[in-house]
Amino acid sequence: MVTGPFPPLAFRDTAAGKPNPGAWREVAETDLDLARVTGAATAAMGQVVRLQVIVLDAGCRPVPGAQVELWQADTKGFYNHRNEVRVTADELDPGFGYWGSGRTDDAGRLTVRTIVPGAYPASSSWFRPPHIHWSVQGEGHAPLTTQSYFDGEGLDGVQAIRAHNDADRILNYRDGFEEGLRGKALEDARRVARAELVARFAVPEAGEPTGQVVLRLGKGA
Ligand SMILES: [Fe+2]
Repeated sequence: MVTGPFPPLAFRDTAAGKPNPGAWREVAETDLDLARVTGAATAAMGQVVRLQVIVLDAGCRPVPGAQVELWQADTKGFYNHRNEVRVTADELDPGFGYWGSGRTDDAGRLTVRTIVPGAYPASSSWFRPPHIHWSVQGEGHAPLTTQSYFDGEGLDGVQAIRAHNDADRILNYRDGFEEGLRGKALEDARRVARAELVARFAVPEAGEPTGQVVLRLGKGA
C-alpha cells in the first residue's frame, strides 16, 4: 500500500542531521513501546494494545533480523508530522510515541505496545478507519510498505482504499488475483493476506488486548 504523507523521515534521512526532520514534536525514541515516552509526564491517551508481529518471507517462513518500522495517528487521529496541517505541535499527545522501529528476533517476531489510532478524514466524504502504517526490510527480500486495520473497524471503506492503491497486493489477494497460485496455495495466501490486513484482538492480557499482525515480504530481486 502507499506510504502516504506521514512517514517518520528519521528512519531514512539520517543525513539531514536532525533526529526527526519531518516531525512536529521531537521524540527521540524509536523503540517499540509507543504508549510510553521516556520523560513524559503522562502515558499515551487512548486504548493500549499489544501487537504480536511476525515477518514472513514469500514462502511463509519467519524472517529473523528484519527491520520493522511503524507509524500511526494518535487517539485523536493526528500524526506527528509537518505534513499534518490540522494541528500544531502543542496539540499533539506528549505521552504518545507516534512511531517505532525494531528488528525481528530469531523467530521472526517482535512485540509492539501502542494505542488504537483514531480515524481521520481522508476526503470531504470519507474517514479513513483506524490503521497502522508499516515498512519492513529484510535482507534478500523485496521491501514491504503496507497498512494494517482493526477487525470490525470500517472495512466498509475498502473501495475507497482500493482507489488509492491500484497495485495493492493485499487487496488483490482478497480477490484471488495472486499470480500462479491455485488450490491450497491460494487459500494459504488469502489467509496470510487477511492477517496482513487486519489486526485481530485476542484475550486481554493484563488489561491490554493483544492483536496479531503478519507482515509477508515478497521475493527479492
Ligand atoms: Fe494513515
